Amino acid sequence: MKISAPLASYWTVYAVSTGVWLSGVLWLIFHYYLVRTTEFGPTPHPLEHWWLVAHGAMAFASLWLMGFLWGTHVVKRWRLRQHRKSGGTLFATMALLIFTGYLLYYLPSDDWRVPTSIAHWVIGLAMPLALTAHWWTRACLNRDEPKGPLRRSTDRY
Ligand code: HEM
Ligand code: HEM
Repeated sequence: MKISAPLASYWTVYAVSTGVWLSGVLWLIFHYYLVRTTEFGPTPHPLEHWWLVAHGAMAFASLWLMGFLWGTHVVKRWRLRQHRKSGGTLFATMALLIFTGYLLYYLPSDDWRVPTSIAHWVIGLAMPLALTAHWWTRACLNRDEPKGPLRRSTDRY
């Protein structure tokens, strides 16, 4: 069976995931560790804002990517019953990031914003684990004997 997603889509996954993760981590470092002390008191580092700008751009790219993967990858692989646990975990992680990221735009009070922000970046920091676990199960699959359609790396698309 031929699965219709261009090979390039996986590289897009790695590029966008790295971008969204790195921009989030850089924001955290600049926000918590690189605050400047000026005559007016503690002032955010000028780059802090730009990491959030970059993160916002990568977050939009993530939304596009998830829509793309839904149409080309997620539903088809789910129906084929392949890597449901690691794929489902990764999907749930991305869904939580999108949901908490959306809330960060609109929550009115700090009482809600602060815990949502912490939940967002804690899940975000752990996101590479879910991606690596999913990638890893895929690597293990390719070591197995072929067991049917889509069971070899050459059968990918
Ligand atoms: C329920 C959801 C999912 C299922 C059942 C699933 C299933 C699979 C399966 C069976 C493979 C190995 C076959 C292949 O190479 O295509 C795979 C590979 C892959 N999946 Fe998923 N997946 C799911 C969700 C996701 C999500 C949400 C992402 C990204 C955000 C993702 C990213 C990838 C990547 C990058 C690979 C290829 C690894 C590589 O060859 O470099 N998957 N997935
Ligand atoms: C699908 C993936 C993601 C989406 C859609 C997303 C979305 C967002 C959005 C919309 C914001 C609010 C921006 C603003 O206030 O202007 C945000 C903030 C943030 N995100 Fe993400 N994000 C994602 C992944 C990640 C990851 C992987 C990390 C890893 C560390 C992360 C860390 C952060 C941090 C530190 C903030 C700033 C929190 C704050 O303002 O209190 N995000 N994200």
